[in-house]
Amino acid sequence: MTHFKPVERLTESRIWRSIFRHGWPDNPLDRSLVMTSNIFLHLHPVKVQRRSLRWYYSLGLGVISVILYGLLIFTGVLLMFYYVPSVERAYPTMQEIQLSVPLGQFTRNMHRWGAHAMVVVVILHMVRVFYTGAYKPPRQFNWIIGVALLLLTLGASFTGYLLPWDQLSFWAITVGTNIAGYAPGAGPVLRQILLGSSEVSQPTLIRFYTLHIALLPLALALLISVHLWRVRKDGGLAASTPPED
Ligand code: HEM
Repeated sequence: MTHFKPVERLTESRIWRSIFRHGWPDNPLDRSLVMTSNIFLHLHPVKVQRRSLRWYYSLGLGVISVILYGLLIFTGVLLMFYYVPSVERAYPTMQEIQLSVPLGQFTRNMHRWGAHAMVVVVILHMVRVFYTGAYKPPRQFNWIIGVALLLLTLGASFTGYLLPWDQLSFWAITVGTNIAGYAPGAGPVLRQILLGSSEVSQPTLIRFYTLHIALLPLALALLISVHLWRVRKDGGLAASTPPED
């Protein structure tokens, strides 16, 4: 009769084996398998330099951006249960969310502050990438994707600003779309596309709403996936690349 140690008994069990396709990570092969067979860990290359894992190298700003994106999707979906994108109903539904929906004010504040935080954190992440020279080859393509992510983040913030349909949002978007209208060449067309009319009105609200709840979050999800995949393919964070002689 074979006598298994408690750890072996666990890792040899059929339930363990059906979930984890590797043994206890006490040898190089199993440690590699842990990294490649776990959906979260596989974002890291199997081998990384210790330096790239130190918290003060990246300050975790990219990861915090991903977490904020998740928080915004979660709170945004909750707000969608009540919000109605019509010029007559938008402001009253926001009031209702604040005053009578359980945890409504908390959810709205999480969404609003989370959005401000995401803009700040994404910009800080970009500054960190620049400061550590992580935009250089082979990561130049990921820098371009990053720029697109920054524009999408700003776009999501701008389109969300109109949705409460209060005086602040109405005039902010009036000013914003007027500025866009002065862009050389495409300005007037861009303004018309954004407004869907000659001034901020119902067509504008529905356009901003669709961009805010569908198009921009989907584009962000797609590009964040490519961005993280590229980090993996470029050999992890730049600090893990050995310096060239
Ligand atoms: C929605 C916005 C963004 C998200 C969610 C995001 C997420 C991430 C994550 C999780 C990492 C790896 C770990 C880390 O650095 O914390 C990363 C790395 C990287 N990001 Fe971003 N990022 C975003 C925007 C940007 C922007 C605006 C740029 C630059 C224009 C950028 C360029 C890069 C580059 C080049 C790397 C590799 C860094 C290295 O190798 O050290 N990202 N990003």
